Amino acid sequence: MDTTDGIRLDGKVAVITGAAGEIGTATMQLMAKRGARVVAVDRQEEALTKAVATLPAAAKAVSLVADVTREDQVAGYVRKAVEAAGTIDIFYNNAGIEGEIAPITHYPLESFQRVLDVNVTGVFLGMKHVLPVMLEKNAGSIINTASIAGLMGSPGIAVYSASKHAVIGLTKSAAIEVTGTNVRINCVCPGLIDSRMLFSIFEGRNPGQQQAVAARSIERVPARRLGQAAEVASVVAFLASEEARYVCGASYVVDGGRTIG
Ligand SMILES: NC(=O)c1ccc[n+]([C@@H]2O[C@H](COP(=O)([O-])OP(=O)(O)OC[C@H]3O[C@@H](n4cnc5c(N)ncnc54)[C@H](O)[C@@H]3O)[C@@H](O)[C@H]2O)c1
Repeated sequence: MDTTDGIRLDGKVAVITGAAGEIGTATMQLMAKRGARVVAVDRQEEALTKAVATLPAAAKAVSLVADVTREDQVAGYVRKAVEAAGTIDIFYNNAGIEGEIAPITHYPLESFQRVLDVNVTGVFLGMKHVLPVMLEKNAGSIINTASIAGLMGSPGIAVYSASKHAVIGLTKSAAIEVTGTNVRINCVCPGLIDSRMLFSIFEGRNPGQQQAVAARSIERVPARRLGQAAEVASVVAFLASEEARYVCGASYVVDGGRTIG
């Protein structure tokens, strides 16, 4: 009888982008706890160093500063990850920005393009450069971060919503492209997570009224509270693990029921 605990990630190499952010940090902490070796990627060097310092020594963590919108830097973090850790088993393609918060009629084109660049081009480039490593050994799990804004419209953040719809499309198409291999590609759709990003969106929509907006938003969440970054991490770590071996091309909603209807 196989007694291996499929949720464990012992010996697996996990590359995580946006690792200095709240969801990225919570996820690398959980993956490290489950036995993974961590390669943490982010654009912000100081925050990345702080986040990686929270990991246990057993995670043998490596920090790589890179901008996910630059193909040379993406190719660079993938090459350095393989040099340092030998391979890539898990890729959490998570870096993202909310962009400016404004209606379409007032949305600057430059900001629109920047959001697409980070949230869509960054996710595309990550898969483009990590997939060959996984396909060569015929194993691996990729998890992209979409959002419930990728499933529904969201005022003031139309481009963010469009970018997350695109992440779901990229995920499904990539999952079909790896048909017949042992590489799985899924995405996670977090809802209202108690985080800097969420409160930045609340502030942008209603300046000075973050708490009131949060209270009104919670009324539309069946769980009657905001989610925690660690609760997104739980689902990502599951998708990364052998427990999810029959899960492919899926969009896992982690939203306390916000999108039920
Ligand atoms: N917080 C939420 O409520 C929420 C909800 C749904 C989806 N998400 C998504 O989850 C992911 C993580 O969000 P978070 O709440 O941890 O946000 P965060 O702002 O705390 O973290 C995002 C991280 O991505 C990094 N990053 C941004 N642009 C980058 C670039 N060009 N190159 C490399 N790194 C870059 C930032 O430096 C930051 O550390 C994002 O994709 C976000 O869109 C968040």
